[in-house]
Amino acid sequence: MANRLVIEGGKKLSGTVTIDGAKNSAVALIPAAILADSEVTLEGLPNISDVETLYQIVGELGGSVEYNEHKAIIDPSEIVDMPLPSGNVKKLRASYYLMGALLGKFKKAVVGLPGGCYLGPRPIDQHIKGFEALGAQVTNEQGAIYLRAEKLRGARIYLDVVSVGATINIMLAAVLAEGKTVIENAAKEPEIIDVATLLNNMGASIKGAGTDTIRIHGVEKLHGCHHTIIPDRIEAGTYMIMAAASGAGVKIQNVIPDHLEGITAKLIEMGVPIDVHEDSLEIGEAKDLKKVDIKTYAYPGFATDLQQPMTALLTQAEGSGIVTDTVYPDRFKQIAELERMGGKFKQNGRSVVVYGKTALKGTKVTATDLRAGAALMVAGLIAEGKTEILEAEHIERGYGNIIQKLTGLGAKIYKESGEPSIS
Ligand code: EPZ
Repeated sequence: MANRLVIEGGKKLSGTVTIDGAKNSAVALIPAAILADSEVTLEGLPNISDVETLYQIVGELGGSVEYNEHKAIIDPSEIVDMPLPSGNVKKLRASYYLMGALLGKFKKAVVGLPGGCYLGPRPIDQHIKGFEALGAQVTNEQGAIYLRAEKLRGARIYLDVVSVGATINIMLAAVLAEGKTVIENAAKEPEIIDVATLLNNMGASIKGAGTDTIRIHGVEKLHGCHHTIIPDRIEAGTYMIMAAASGAGVKIQNVIPDHLEGITAKLIEMGVPIDVHEDSLEIGEAKDLKKVDIKTYAYPGFATDLQQPMTALLTQAEGSGIVTDTVYPDRFKQIAELERMGGKFKQNGRSVVVYGKTALKGTKVTATDLRAGAALMVAGLIAEGKTEILEAEHIERGYGNIIQKLTGLGAKIYKESGEPSIS
C-alpha cells in the first residue's frame, strides 16, 4: 500500500527539533555487528524502515536483535552464512554491506543485488575490486553476488572512484583478514569514521578513517561492545533547509556542526541567519533569500543528498541558481514534480538552473526516491494550499518520526494510507 503525506503550506515553523542517529551509519553498523562473536549494543539509532529491514535480515541469518525505537542489542553468536539471494536485501541499497560482513566472518556469502533509490546507475565494481584484492572469487549469478575465499589476505587497494560504500565494505571484509590492508583514495564521510570506531571498539585495528588512506591490521576475532551512533547530518541539513524555507526561529539539536559546514555555508550565503552552538544550531527567519550556485562533491564537499531539497528552496530565492550534481548526474527526479507545483527549471545534463522567485501551489506529487521526497516536503511547506505526496514510504526510509517532528515545529502535516499506488 502506498502511503501519502499531506502538507498544508504557508505555516511558519518554530520551536526545537532533535536529530536522530545517522541512517548511513546505522545501515553499516548493523552489518558490522555481525562480525562480533558476542553482543553489540547500538544506541541512538534512527527509527526508520531501513533499520527495521536490517534487523529482519540479522534474524534470517540466525542472529537475534532486541530493540526499541532508538536502541538495539544484537547477538551475532548464532549467526550462520545463510545465503540471501533475494527478499529483504532488495529493499535497501545498504544490504551490500552484508557482502563484506559475511565474507569477512565466514569467507563466503551470497547476497542479492541491492535495491534502494534509483539515482541513475549505481555500480558496485569498486566493492568487488576490493573483495577480489583480498583474495575472494566473486561472481554475479541471477542477480545475486556469490563471494568465496580460501583465505582473506590483506592488500593495497586503490579506489578508482571515491565511494562511501566500497570504503566501508572493504573495511568489513579486511578486519579479520590475515595481514595489512591499505585503502587508498578512500571516502572521508563521517559515517566511515563511525563504522571504524565501532570496529575498533570490537577489537579491530583500523587507522586513518576519515582520511583518504585507511590502514587495517587483520585480527583473529572481534568481541561485542557498546556504541552510540553519530547524529544524521543529512536529516539535520534537511531540517535546516525546511527552516530556511518556512521558519521563524527553529532550533536543531543533537548535531555535529563540523559535519554541516557545506549546508551551513550555503544557507548563510543565501542570507539565512544561523547561530552555531556546540551541538545545536539556531536558524532565524530568512527575509529575502539570495540565489546561490551549488556543486556536490564527496565529503567534505556539498552533500549530494542535500542537492534535491536545495532545489526546492532555491525556487524562493531572488534570481536563478545553478545546481550541479557531480556524484549522481541523474539525481533530478524531483524537478518534474516541483514543476507540477509551479517551479521553473532548466535542466541540462548534470546541472539544473532553478529560476526564482516562483510561487508554488500545492497539488498531488510523487516521491520518486528518498531525497526527492525531502524536496517535496520543503516545497509543500512553502506552497499555498495542500500538497499530497504519494509513495511517501520513500521518505519514511530516511526520516524517522517525520510527522511528529514537523508537527512539533508547527507544520500542518498528516499521513493518509493511500489507495493502491498509481502505476
Ligand atoms: C552512499 O551511497 C549513501 N548511501 C548515499 O545516500 C549517498 O548519496 C552516497 O553515499 C554519496 O555520498 C548509504 O550510505 C547507504 P558511493 P553509496 O559509493 O555508498 C560511484 C541517501 O539518500 N560508484 O559513495 O552507494 C557511484 O555510482 C543515499 O541517504 C562506482 O562507480 O555511494 C557514485 O557516482 C542515497 N562504483 C559515486 O561512486 C562503485 O563500486 C559515489 O557513490 C561504487 C560507487
